[in-house]
Amino acid sequence: MDMTEFITPMVGNIMQSRGNAAALAHQLSAYFDENSLQKAKENLEELKSRMSCYQCAILEVETKFKVLNERFSLNHERNPIEAIKTRVKSPESIYEKLNRKNLPFTLESLDQMHDIAGIRVICSFVDDIYMLADCLLKQDDIRLVEKKDYIANPKENGYRSLHLIVEVPIFLENEKRWMKVEVQLRTIAMEFWANLEHKLRYKKNLSEDLSTLTASELSECAEMSAQLDLKMQNIRNIIYGNS
Ligand code: GTP
Ligand code: MG
Repeated sequence: MDMTEFITPMVGNIMQSRGNAAALAHQLSAYFDENSLQKAKENLEELKSRMSCYQCAILEVETKFKVLNERFSLNHERNPIEAIKTRVKSPESIYEKLNRKNLPFTLESLDQMHDIAGIRVICSFVDDIYMLADCLLKQDDIRLVEKKDYIANPKENGYRSLHLIVEVPIFLENEKRWMKVEVQLRTIAMEFWANLEHKLRYKKNLSEDLSTLTASELSECAEMSAQLDLKMQNIRNIIYGNS
């Protein structure tokens, strides 16, 4: 189903009239005949339904992590999870990413995106990341699609995290549907670095010299924060052993 011809020219207007259906309908009527409008409406309904499925998939995976946290705190008297953050990718960034990858704005293209549903699990210690990932992947309703270990193999700029793309079933009124979810597992220190690096990256008009200096400073910070994680993990091991 190709939505491009209905939606692409209207994206600016859709963004502006967010949530205001009447205003949107009025703007659309200036561009399209009755038939096209009806089709566009159906496509938008389908898009809304897909987004809701991604939200359901996030709920499933989030619950799995909460259950693991609960059981671990019962058995070991500590929480391996500091925080969980979730998000469904906004239409703006879906549109931006499809453009960047030269993909048309169609429902089929959405199927090729692996990160529309995202969950970030912020852990206390590095070992907790691998323990939680193992526990999740052992569950018989989770399928692993892709794993990227940016902790064992940090990105060149110093970025560290464990990324999993998993599929999880959601149960709708009359069907079972497998949905993809991107899971990012990282420590508090990795989250601290990634958040600040992300903010700093938005300052784009840096001179070449400054940009090189910034990159090397940031990479040094990533190194320092990895050292901190290592030290914290060692202290934990001294106190608790390997439980
Ligand atoms: P895209 O999904 O197109 O970005 O590329 P990819 O599929 O190769 O993604 P990858 O698994 O490497 O990273 C996906 C997500 O990880 C991003 O959307 C960010 O949330 C996070 N991430 C990856 N690299 C960096 C980085 O260098 N800095 C920060 N702050 N976050 C990063
Ligand atoms: Mg990705």
